[in-house]
Amino acid sequence: MSTRHFLSLLDFTSDELRALIAQAIDVKQKLKQGVSHTPLSGKLLAMIFEKSSTRTRVSFEAGMYQLGGHAMFLSPRDSHLGRGEPIEDSARVISSMVDGILIRTFGHDRIEALAQNSRVPVINGLSDLLHPCQLLADMQTWFEQRGDIAGARVAWIGDGNNMCHSYINAAISFDFELAIACPPGHEPDAAILESGGERISLHQSALDAASGADLVVTDVWASMGQEEEQQQRIETFSSYQVNQEVMARANGEALFMHCLPAHRGEEVTSDVLDSPQSVIWQEAENRLHAQKALLEFLLATEA
Ligand code: CP
Ligand code: NVA
Repeated sequence: MSTRHFLSLLDFTSDELRALIAQAIDVKQKLKQGVSHTPLSGKLLAMIFEKSSTRTRVSFEAGMYQLGGHAMFLSPRDSHLGRGEPIEDSARVISSMVDGILIRTFGHDRIEALAQNSRVPVINGLSDLLHPCQLLADMQTWFEQRGDIAGARVAWIGDGNNMCHSYINAAISFDFELAIACPPGHEPDAAILESGGERISLHQSALDAASGADLVVTDVWASMGQEEEQQQRIETFSSYQVNQEVMARANGEALFMHCLPAHRGEEVTSDVLDSPQSVIWQEAENRLHAQKALLEFLLATEA
C-alpha cells in the first residue's frame, strides 16, 4: 500500500476522521486515568519547523513521548533546510532514518514536494494554505461538548486564511454549514470555496455570518509571514472583530473557538475569549490527544 500522508483533512475519508476523533477521546481518557498506551515504541518523528510554534511543537513532542516514541526537532537555522538543500533531497535523506515527518512551513507546495519524496508519512503542521491538525482538535472539542457536528451552523469571521480553508474542508468532511464573513479582498481561495458547494455561504458582515450560529470561530488578522501587513490589516479588519454583540447574534448555546495565539482586542475581545462559551483551552489541549490518534493511525500501521 502506498504511504499515507496528512497534508489536508481531505486526505482522509469522513469515516476515518470520525474514527480518529473517537480514538482521540479514548487516548485522552487513558492519559487522564494514568493508563499507559505505547503503540509507537521505538518510532521516531522528525519535526521540521520553518515557522514559529508553541502548541504544535509541544503537542507533537509530548504526544510522541506518551505513545512510547521520540520526536526530533529540526529548524532551518541549524540544518541544511535553511541553506538551500532542496526539500526533495531532504525528504529522501530524513525519511530514510525516521518513521514520520511533521512539517510547518510557508508554501503548501513545499509540503507536497516533501511528501512526494518521502518514504514515510508526512503531516502538515501548518502551511500558508491549510492547518488540518488544528481542525482535528477543534472537531474533537465540538464532539466532546455537543456530540456530532453534522448539520450544525458554524460562523467563520475574519481572514480567509489557512484556518478558514481547513474549516471549509471540515464542513465537507463532517457535513456542517459554514457561514463566512471576510473583508473584501480577504476571502478564501476561490477553488477551495467552490469545493465546499452549497454548505458554504459568504456574508457581508460579522453579524450576518454569526446569526443563528452554533459555533463562532476566528483567527488572527495577520498570519505568520504577514507581519509587515499587521497595521494595515488592523484597519481593514476592524469591523470583523468577534465581540459580545457578534456572539449575541449566535445561538444562546453557541461555542467560541480560536486556534491561538489570540490578539486580545483585535480579532476577539477578552470578554469573549474568557466567557463561559469559549472552549479555547480545551481546544488547545486537544491538539495533544487528536494528534496522538493521528500519529498512531499513520505510524503504528507503517510497520
Ligand atoms: N494553533 C497553533 O497551531 O498554535 P502554534 O502556532 O503555537 O503551534
Ligand atoms: N493563521 C495563523 C494560524 C496560527 C496557528 C497563522 O498562519 O499564523
